[in-house]
Amino acid sequence: MRTHTPEQTYLDKNFSLSDPDLARIGKQLREANLEYMSMSPAEGRILQFLIRGFGIRSVVEVGTLFGFSAICMAKALPPDGRMIAIEKSGDNFPIAMQNVQVSQVNCPIELRFGDGISVLNELAPEGPFDMIFIDANKNGYIDYLNWAERNIRVGGLIVGDNTFLWGALWNQSRVGEVNSETIKLIEEFNQRLADPARYNSILIPTFEGITVAQKLN
Ligand SMILES: C[S@@+](CC[C@H](N)C(=O)[O-])C[C@H]1O[C@@H](n2cnc3c(N)ncnc32)[C@H](O)[C@@H]1O
Repeated sequence: MRTHTPEQTYLDKNFSLSDPDLARIGKQLREANLEYMSMSPAEGRILQFLIRGFGIRSVVEVGTLFGFSAICMAKALPPDGRMIAIEKSGDNFPIAMQNVQVSQVNCPIELRFGDGISVLNELAPEGPFDMIFIDANKNGYIDYLNWAERNIRVGGLIVGDNTFLWGALWNQSRVGEVNSETIKLIEEFNQRLADPARYNSILIPTFEGITVAQKLN
């Protein structure tokens, strides 16, 4: 069950996405008790806003689950754009594939099965890309950031979800719930992207936190 603060409820009511494909996937996620792992429609709208606002034409996503966020993004990309989505789980991948095949999107979605960093390394010769959306294993965020610093173009975006780490970054009582190595890695991820000499960046205070950084050099 996704946690609903009054702010989120307001956001979901007024700045959500009304779309039959996303509604269908939302239902699948609820039935599988996995809604908490996926972006909300209002968060999907943030990704669409970034894609349209920054003229993004190619996106690589790490961590696709049932395809909700990848399908949101492919609905905002231009017809000649590229949406590449990477998923490691053999349970989630076929469901994402089926959802991608039946959804109405603006540009094709290329689904890749495998471990995030291995697939990213295979993709590197096809870059640079305009944007990376990081939403997979938290312990991999620094590896994904290192890849992004080499393979996202200047002016492009590095976006990471769950960067409040469920409050463990500042709430001592939650520290036991999240491995201390993970806390260190996400702290480093945010600190590196907060550097104004290298990035034009923000951390959007959604319930889970989305770090957004535009590469300056
Ligand atoms: C939070 S969910 C992604 C949600 C999705 N972005 C959405 O909003 O619809 C994280 C996903 O990352 C996948 N994952 C975990 N470790 C991974 C890795 N090393 N490489 C690729 N995918 C991974 C999990 O199987 C899971 O489906």
